Amino acid sequence: MRNRQIFLVDKPEGALEERHFELREAEAPEPRAGEALVRTVLLSLDAANRAWMQGPTYRGEMAAGSVMEGFGVGEVVASKDGALAPGDLVAGMLGWQDYSVHPARRLRKLPRDYRPVSHFISLLGVAGKTAHHGLLQVGRPREGETVLVSAAAGSVGAYVGQIAKIKGCRAIGIAGGPDKCSWIVDTLGYDAAIDYKAEDVAQRLAELCPDGVDVYFDNVGGRILQAALFNMALRGRVVCCGAISQYDTTEMESPRGIPGVIVFKRLRLEGFIVSDFPDKDAEAERDLAAWYAEGRLQVAEDVLDGLEAAPRGLIGLLAGDNIGKRMVRVGPDPD
Ligand SMILES: NC(=O)c1ccc[n+]([C@@H]2O[C@H](COP(=O)([O-])OP(=O)(O)OC[C@H]3O[C@@H](n4cnc5c(N)ncnc54)[C@H](OP(=O)(O)O)[C@@H]3O)[C@@H](O)[C@H]2O)c1
Repeated sequence: MRNRQIFLVDKPEGALEERHFELREAEAPEPRAGEALVRTVLLSLDAANRAWMQGPTYRGEMAAGSVMEGFGVGEVVASKDGALAPGDLVAGMLGWQDYSVHPARRLRKLPRDYRPVSHFISLLGVAGKTAHHGLLQVGRPREGETVLVSAAAGSVGAYVGQIAKIKGCRAIGIAGGPDKCSWIVDTLGYDAAIDYKAEDVAQRLAELCPDGVDVYFDNVGGRILQAALFNMALRGRVVCCGAISQYDTTEMESPRGIPGVIVFKRLRLEGFIVSDFPDKDAEAERDLAAWYAEGRLQVAEDVLDGLEAAPRGLIGLLAGDNIGKRMVRVGPDPD
């Protein structure tokens, strides 16, 4: 069986480019005892894919010369483990390729009949769970509080603002450009938006939040984090989810005025990884599915077609081309 694979052939010094990737073909591997062969259906494109190239994070650094790693959903084609059978739908680190072999214990079996399958990457995947865990377990907003979200039109940010509204908070989003700003207000229900590409974020925050921001869900770090810190309310909480403004560059930019502002505003800054809350996953999935079914939560997916679109898709995500959860359709859904 022919297997298309996209390799990371070189690690970027500055910005990621298509020349850092190469499409190659090989024979699909055979599973051994305890393993399953999986056909990729959908691949998730994540800002973290780029962060893995920079150095060790919550996982080891990605090396050049190997198949590009990435989370995906696929169909089991052959299995030499009793826990999985052909036709099963699974999620795992499938990588940028048509077929891959994994120990069965590294694959999560998904409900076979749930549709659309894409929800296991968006609503019920890392995006939805990161928003739910980060906001509710780390930020812990109370009804009536003001929640600020950066990358608010992206995969995680789009859910954070909506969950904040469901919990009775005021939601302010920061996004790049007028289209994304209108979309988060008109479609997602954010109360206000700040276009960080055209407006002075610190000044707009001072106008919109004269009493300060109670919870800042930070997806971007850098200058926007700095503007947010100085506009936090006393005893505000900063949910450190990611720092996309620092991933695709060699010129890292840390916020200034630290720790002074943290001290005098008595702030709590806490980082988290979505996998820190395994005991809360079921609750998050239940909430997200219920809110979606009740029409209280919009799901935004940005699906590119074909494995070969993955490099361009990741580069575009880092530049802000996406609205909602960006993913690549590699093959058809299972029957
Ligand atoms: N802690 C966790 O477990 C966890 C899990 C998943 C994701 N994350 C983090 O969540 C964040 C979002 O990741 P994602 O994969 O879901 O991507 P995403 O939000 O769907 O897309 C990234 C968005 O970031 C914005 N952006 C890019 N460069 C920026 C800059 N310099 N300043 C401000 N905004 C910028 C762009 O939107 P604009 O057009 O608005 O610029 C882009 O659309 C990342 O920091 C990621 O590391 C963390």
